[in-house]
Amino acid sequence: VKGGFDSFMDKEIHDQPKAVADTLLGRTDASGDLMLDELRIPETVLRSIDKIIVIACGTAAYSGHVAKYAIEHWCRIPVEVELAHEFRYRDPILTPRTLVVAISQSGETMDTLMAVRHAREQGAYVLAIVNTHGSTIPRESDAVLYTHAGPEVAVASTKAFLAQITACYLLGLYLAQLRGTKFADEIQETLQELQALPDKIQSVLDDEAAVREVAQAMKDEPSFLFLGRHVGYPVALEGALKLKEIAYIHAEGFAAGELKHGPIALIDTGQPVFVIAPSPRGRDQLHSKVVSNIQEVRARGARTLVIAEEGDEAVVPYADILFRVPQTPTLLSPLVAVVPLQIFASELAKAKGLDVDQPRNLAKSVTVE
Ligand code: F6R
Repeated sequence: VKGGFDSFMDKEIHDQPKAVADTLLGRTDASGDLMLDELRIPETVLRSIDKIIVIACGTAAYSGHVAKYAIEHWCRIPVEVELAHEFRYRDPILTPRTLVVAISQSGETMDTLMAVRHAREQGAYVLAIVNTHGSTIPRESDAVLYTHAGPEVAVASTKAFLAQITACYLLGLYLAQLRGTKFADEIQETLQELQALPDKIQSVLDDEAAVREVAQAMKDEPSFLFLGRHVGYPVALEGALKLKEIAYIHAEGFAAGELKHGPIALIDTGQPVFVIAPSPRGRDQLHSKVVSNIQEVRARGARTLVIAEEGDEAVVPYADILFRVPQTPTLLSPLVAVVPLQIFASELAKAKGLDVDQPRNLAKSVTVE
């Protein structure tokens, strides 16, 4: 059942090219336009929404963070991302023009379900992005966009995360198409870039040996920091969460720009710091800002583990260890950048002799509040 892998987590990491491809499959018509028939919310409503609130927990919430960057950029609709349990217990402002997007692998997470109920009681439309057919959250939502990752067995979420991000991109591009906030050819171009992702993820998997070797060598480190900007920020958070969950190592993800506002005080000689470098081909200053952050932590003694695009030479002088990922447009890059971090956590947990699939104190689906 583990397909020859040591753990379900490893198998599921390797299922990711297919999880992304399957989530994209069948969602365009003959002319290449996006067609999300399942999205049974009236088009008039989708045209009139003036705010999106993503509610989710854990890894699913990080996919929502990625969605925020993409949907705001493509659709010019403000997107908030909120942990479902926090959303539920404040007094959120919801109107019939608010689209609430509930993201969940299991479809049974009680915190998320309660938030869905709350949102609907307040008159908002709720769209569920869920992996498990027949689960409760889609039944209680106005519409559902299924991720097609297949069953996820390991407690630590991997392929569901990539499928959630993919579904969020589809939603964003669909809204952009419907609302005319992007030209048809731009949407087509992005869809084509998205179609190229499964092969790119595969190429990261093909290079996994190097990541595993580093993980084994670092198995006794007591703490790791993760830095990223823009969509690299949720990737940093996810990399840290994986390490906490399965390797029981203290790990923190930060927005790289936040360093000098506090976290840089943590940097001491030898502190390992992962940095997710954005594409140097982006038109903004994102890349050069991150290169400065790498320099800053390294100047204070950090050991830097840098995830960077192929061909990015600017990071080379400051990376103690470099993991390459294929060139990908910034907004889509989390689908490749997170993969080495998943492999790293899995290998490190294994090297420590831990049960990768069944970490202590955690359950696959959290059906209590
Ligand atoms: C992380 C993880 C959890 C879940 C969270 C939400 O690896 O597994 O953080 O992502 O409990 O679960 P779902 O997506 O089932 O609602």
